[in-house]
Amino acid sequence: MIYLDNAATTFPKPLSVIEEVRRCMLTYAGNPGRGAHTLSLMAAERVYECRELLAKIFGASDADRVFFMPNATYGINAVIKGILKHGDHVIISDMEHNAVFRPIYKLAQQGVIEYEIFDTYTCHYGQNPESICQSIARLVRPNTKMVFCIYGSNICSEILPIADIGALCKRLGIFFAVDGAQSAGHVPIDIERMNIDALCLPGHKGLYGPQGSGAVILGKTTVLDTLVEGGNGMDSLSGEMSMQSPERYEAGTVAVPSIAGLYASLKWLDSYGIDKIGAEEKRLGRRLTDMLGSLRGVSVYAPQYEGGTVLFNIDNVSSELCAAYLNSKGICTRGGYHCAALAHSTLGTPDGGAVRASIGAFNTEADLSALWHALREASFVGI
Ligand code: ALA
Repeated sequence: MIYLDNAATTFPKPLSVIEEVRRCMLTYAGNPGRGAHTLSLMAAERVYECRELLAKIFGASDADRVFFMPNATYGINAVIKGILKHGDHVIISDMEHNAVFRPIYKLAQQGVIEYEIFDTYTCHYGQNPESICQSIARLVRPNTKMVFCIYGSNICSEILPIADIGALCKRLGIFFAVDGAQSAGHVPIDIERMNIDALCLPGHKGLYGPQGSGAVILGKTTVLDTLVEGGNGMDSLSGEMSMQSPERYEAGTVAVPSIAGLYASLKWLDSYGIDKIGAEEKRLGRRLTDMLGSLRGVSVYAPQYEGGTVLFNIDNVSSELCAAYLNSKGICTRGGYHCAALAHSTLGTPDGGAVRASIGAFNTEADLSALWHALREASFVGI
């Protein structure tokens, strides 16, 4: 198979990741922080090393501000529900994934909070961070508690001017949270320099770790209410979760084999260079956008050349049918709405959404050619 669905999860993973998961399961998968025996200590050490690498890669000065979650969505929920209180106002972007939109929407439906949506695509098209910040500033109220937005979109190659938004939020005293699901591992992120108060990450996408790994990195002063309570190996006599991060946020056993795999993938990524991977994805994304643009009857949405995620349709063909056809040709893409109806509506895709081809570190020009040839054939056969 030719795999062009890296925005859903990257595949394949580096061999070192697979080897580390195996080594962990075979030799050190004790329960970290739950005992003083050798296997518990070995697991705890690997988990801590993974925290340290995440802190280093994402510009956090303190590894204890990194806590593990099963995926980005859990982390996003932990941040939203750990910060927002009755009467708060939240601002999100018009390109959000349901991971951010749904928890916000539910709290709003329950009458707990109010939210508003700021414009990105229309004003960002001319690469203008200032106009995006203005569209946020216009929505700010005295009770605005949080701005929560993506860095990179999951349906196209749009990225938002996170450093500018962070500076704005800092100036206004607003909590700034970022969904890093499609940017981590693709573009450099520095939470302290960018004034991010909480960065939510999946381990299994651009970080090339196993599914089941994810993390939140908190800014220096952030304390969240807990999303889940339970054992964490600390203060066992107390009925309350400790205030200490990361244990405060990690109730129950963490996914040690996934975290071990993430540790290996971060080492791989760090030595390879996020800059280098991102630049190559961007080059291939531009190439694919241009190739698709040369096909009659193929429309490409938001061709912004900022990364390796390309959204398109064959005119008058449902995206799911097109993705199924590509699958029959041995090419993995994803059709539909990609859990991001808000973003699709912003880009103006038709009913049924669009087809997404998303490039990862292991894709080559030959993969893009295969997709192009399959689509050219499709427009001849009129699928
Ligand atoms: N959020 C993932 C995607 O965009 C699953 O496909």
